[in-house]
Amino acid sequence: MARPKVYVTRRLPFPAFELLKKYCDVDLYDSDAPPSREEIKEHIKGKDALLCLLTDKIDKEIMDLAPELKVISTYSVGYDHIDVEEATKRGIYVTHTPGVLTEAVADLAWALLLAIARRIIVADKCIREGCWKIAWYPTFMLGSAVYGKTLGIIGLGRIGTAVARRAKGFNMKIIYYSRTKKPALERELGLEFKPLEELLREADYVVLTVALTKETYHMIGERELKLMKPTAYLINVSRGAVVETNALVRALREKWIAGAALDVFEQEPLPKDHPLCELDNVVLAPHIGSATYETRAKMAEVAIKGLLAVLSGKEPEFLVNPEVKNVRPLSQVKMIDVAEL
Ligand code: NAP
Ligand code: GLV
Repeated sequence: MARPKVYVTRRLPFPAFELLKKYCDVDLYDSDAPPSREEIKEHIKGKDALLCLLTDKIDKEIMDLAPELKVISTYSVGYDHIDVEEATKRGIYVTHTPGVLTEAVADLAWALLLAIARRIIVADKCIREGCWKIAWYPTFMLGSAVYGKTLGIIGLGRIGTAVARRAKGFNMKIIYYSRTKKPALERELGLEFKPLEELLREADYVVLTVALTKETYHMIGERELKLMKPTAYLINVSRGAVVETNALVRALREKWIAGAALDVFEQEPLPKDHPLCELDNVVLAPHIGSATYETRAKMAEVAIKGLLAVLSGKEPEFLVNPEVKNVRPLSQVKMIDVAEL
């Protein structure tokens, strides 16, 4: 059997990478920075498989250049950067890395929530810049209480649920809005479903954990931000484009809401002269939701095993487009046998 040809768009210094090299001829873009579009177009040619990142836009034009492509495995849970419909039509399997990053991202959402509510970044900066002049006084560095407040989760999927579980320890009232109601979770965690507008009006902390799709693009704009309480905070760990950035900047400047804590942006990396960087009622993180050693290594293993599963004609654990099996059954994509699967 011929060894599959795989294009890997980024350096992945994790043990699972050895497994990929054992079974495939790997064309590695050996860098931390993303390849240019032209580079992807050049290197995708003749490949059986692609291992990409969330910053690589994989659309029809790219797929046209790779008629042999059988699987696209993304080193992320989000797959909004891949034209899944187009891949399915062509019999290309799309796999991703759900689950293994859920807890890390939920932790980060909570780190951001606490940081903005209790002004941790401003407080740290105050000490470093020598503005801590009086040891302790009643009105110094006041923030907002978290314990006992109302948490509104938008998108009650894996990460949203993990955020809700943590909120139990803060004795919060938890309300959620999602595409579908989740009665079992409502019972287990004492959650309450609310239509989006009601959630925005009631929540003290609105956490976005929704997937980015055509429907959720700019789901939070001027109208939605104006529905929020002036004392409420917005925390976004989903995708930047779920929020209309210009509206959010105005909301923060004009105090329609109390603050925001953001891990994701419409423009990444966020330039340091961006209006968001001038505001002190916002906490910013550079898309580090899943950034723990343990999680990133596990993501590599899941992404690589998903890719190898498809190439060995086996059902991958996390298939984004199960309908693809009707277009091209797994038996027709099999190229190798992988003992480790
Ligand atoms: P998930 O389990 O698929 O959850 C996504 C949720 O979005 C689902 O609950 C889904 O609702 C909801 N949703 C989709 N379309 C909707 C709509 N039109 N209206 C309302 N809700 C809608 O995925 P996950 O593993 O929790 O990940 C969620 C997202 O987090 C990813 O897609 C990714 O963008 C982002 N993420 C960010 C980081 C980071 O580093 N910051 C890391 C990992 C993931 P239903 O369940 O009701 O259908
Ligand atoms: C990160 O943002 C992911 O989707 O895994």
